Amino acid sequence: LEVYDAPEVPLAIPPLLEPDQETATDAYYTVEAQAGETQILPGAKTKTWGYNASLLGKTIVYHVGKHNHVTLKNSLPELTTFHWHGLGVSGPYIDGGCHAPVYPGEESKIEFTLHQPAATTWLHAHPCPSTAEQVWHGLATMVIVKDEHEESLPLPRNYGVDDIPLVLQDRRFHENNQWDYREDYDPDGVQGPTALINGTVNPYFDVTTQKLRLRILDGANRREWRLHFSDNLEFTQIAGDSSLLPEPVKFTKLMLTCAERAEIIVDFKDYKEGDVVTLFSDDVPIVRFRIHDFTPDNTVVPDKLIDLPKEEADPDLPVRAILMSGMDEEVMLNGKKFNMQRIDATQPVGKAQYWDITNSNDMVGGMVHPFHVHGTEFLVISRNGHEPYANEHGYKDTVGVNPGETVRILVRFAQTGVYMYHCHIIEHEDGGMMAQIQSY
Ligand code: C2O
Ligand code: CU
Ligand code: CU
Repeated sequence: LEVYDAPEVPLAIPPLLEPDQETATDAYYTVEAQAGETQILPGAKTKTWGYNASLLGKTIVYHVGKHNHVTLKNSLPELTTFHWHGLGVSGPYIDGGCHAPVYPGEESKIEFTLHQPAATTWLHAHPCPSTAEQVWHGLATMVIVKDEHEESLPLPRNYGVDDIPLVLQDRRFHENNQWDYREDYDPDGVQGPTALINGTVNPYFDVTTQKLRLRILDGANRREWRLHFSDNLEFTQIAGDSSLLPEPVKFTKLMLTCAERAEIIVDFKDYKEGDVVTLFSDDVPIVRFRIHDFTPDNTVVPDKLIDLPKEEADPDLPVRAILMSGMDEEVMLNGKKFNMQRIDATQPVGKAQYWDITNSNDMVGGMVHPFHVHGTEFLVISRNGHEPYANEHGYKDTVGVNPGETVRILVRFAQTGVYMYHCHIIEHEDGGMMAQIQSY
């Protein structure tokens, strides 16, 4: 990551997607994938794609228990799919993997009701094998799941004011401020030197409250983010990918791998009007928080956030071994490349099973593979037999597996269907480090 020499601009806050219609029990939405142009840098606009917007998209909010009817509209010049990363919906048609194409100029309709804890999730394109290129064009947006339990807690939740989405991506700007995926292509993941935060470069955010809740999503194709604030400011992580954490965790540093999310609370009590608190990744400033006057906020983050049901692996199910191997074009999952016609594994619906995920890369210098499962939330049980990280005690759907490491997770599918699982370095996924399981 490098500093890009451009003026500071206000952080883009995506508007919320308004339902077309809403009753006490049902909500109707239209999500349209579209091509457009976005003024990101001074000078030429950048050609971009987005959902209900020219770049990235509007933020979607779903309420647990409500029945959602979603029209998926493709106004792009090529086919796409609409994947709900982190939603517990049945796969693969509703969940929007490569089995669910929507052709240019066409639309399709899905319906689902969520039964999962409040979480920060996302929507992204998933047509195999051009997921990576479509996400690079901008097809990714935040999806917030709300439930009554989360709403009963004293946490910031005023969207755009003290509850802020932060979609972390990186790009390379070529001539005329354009992105060029093919030119920048790397089978181990495309990266660019410029941080793009909610689609803005060099953003600042005007802080008007003592506490800020940041919903951070690593929406990059390949990049890991190593986050910290100026003054080594301590912050509190309250949620991971798919639920609140049972207990909040205090940190001064946070690492996210591709597709992982973290919700953190930053308390600016020691700052005053005119101060600036900078968020860095690897020592490059990525967002500047400009402090304004705020009224003191004495609320305390509860030390218990959620009770997760105790779950055990079904003793009748053997441990499932999953091997992520190779680099470049050689990436594979369990020695094979993805084939949509092939079901690689099965698991009875409603039964929990241990999955042992191994990254066969060399301990030194190898890549971290972020492992993701569709349509469910899992628990991280151990890393090489040791306790998982302190912020891995809630539900997750993506876990970084370090070189030479085996991570044990506990997976249960609540619904029947076919679900993909893969490395979330998106070029690895497109390159075949992916498989599918049928829950029956
Ligand atoms: Cu976030 Cu299969 O994807
Ligand atoms: Cu997914
Ligand atoms: Cu990978």
